Amino acid sequence: MINPEHNQYLVSNYALPSLEIIKGKGSYLWDSTGSKFLDFTSGIAVTNIGHSNKHWVHSVTNQINELVHCSNLFSIPQQVKLAKRVEGKIGPGKMLFCNSGAEANEALIKFSRLVGKKVQTKNKFKLLVAENGFHGRTMGALSATSSPKYRNGFEPLLDGFSFAPLNDIDAFKRKMDHQTIAIMVESIQGEGGIRVATDEFLQGVEKLCRENDALLLLDEVQAGIGRTGEFLGFQNSGIKPDAIAIAKGLGGGFPIGALWIDEKWAEIFQPGSHGTTFGGSPLACSAANAVLDVLEDQNLISQAKEKGKQIKDELVNLKNKFPTLIKEIRGRGLMLAIAMKDSPNLLIEILQRKGLLVVGAAENVIRFLPPLTVNQIELKEALTITEDALQELLKIQK
Ligand SMILES: Cc1ncc(COP(=O)(O)O)c(C=O)c1O
Repeated sequence: MINPEHNQYLVSNYALPSLEIIKGKGSYLWDSTGSKFLDFTSGIAVTNIGHSNKHWVHSVTNQINELVHCSNLFSIPQQVKLAKRVEGKIGPGKMLFCNSGAEANEALIKFSRLVGKKVQTKNKFKLLVAENGFHGRTMGALSATSSPKYRNGFEPLLDGFSFAPLNDIDAFKRKMDHQTIAIMVESIQGEGGIRVATDEFLQGVEKLCRENDALLLLDEVQAGIGRTGEFLGFQNSGIKPDAIAIAKGLGGGFPIGALWIDEKWAEIFQPGSHGTTFGGSPLACSAANAVLDVLEDQNLISQAKEKGKQIKDELVNLKNKFPTLIKEIRGRGLMLAIAMKDSPNLLIEILQRKGLLVVGAAENVIRFLPPLTVNQIELKEALTITEDALQELLKIQK
């Protein structure tokens, strides 16, 4: 049951929720009636170190008592520390902080326009983007998002975006032209239904960019921060992007986004060319530094690979057991999906009733996005609930 005032006072841009959540700890959430749920949504790939992690809470609380915000008029030690740590995990370059995934992608798009104008004398400005991707709801990020379901009602969007199917390098080659300044892809399409960009495709895209003097831009907003068993998803594929958008898991629930720019391009933004009031605040950066502490101290990134493999194998077993319901198991690390043959909505409801929260996505997909801190008992609990729920669905459908 949710408060009837929800609908009265909140704009209906989200589907009406069925749960009112009031507390989280580790892998679990509690609603206002006291029911407990195993949370395999992680707030849509955000709470990668679980809810209310002790170290994170301590760091954030201490920072609140010291300084929450001062703006980028001043140097912020926590921001410099975070930039150095993230750069250390990606490669030589520089960081720009903002507040969300969409904002990080706006910066990514603006970065490519600046390179097109300032460095390329040919006035390159077009972006070639993978179809079925999702890059955010602001007008620039939306222009880079091909699906009509997100674009409808908001056109005309920005000029200069074209699309080609993920994993089809020949289609990308055909769409590349002399005005293309960049190719932009997710290493795993999250909202698009956990579609993994193959290593060969990403390597092909990198080569295409190099041959055509174009930038390689990665949107790691959902696949980043350890979820796939590497710090960022593309690092599974051995490519070298020019700039990367990150957000979601970076703050562990506190809003923060960021752009990493290869050292080659690091001076492209100059004072006044881009900015945000809140970006990289002492509080946001303390939260993100605490996330990195936990990921490092508990070795969670390499564990994500092992745990992911284990749960994926079990999900494949379920696919074999329920071939009339499940079409495919997809994903990498702890970014996994059951692609159903039909709408997954009823299964999502049954799972919730049985105590497991999951997220839907395009193409009849149910996403499993547990926190990277998930333990063996919780993984087993999730799989047992999933099998029970599939049994129930099968009975209903007979
Ligand atoms: C790959 C990707 N990029 C960008 C975004 C937008 O991020 P935000 O909702 O923080 O603006 C999302 C959100 O789901 C995403 O999955």
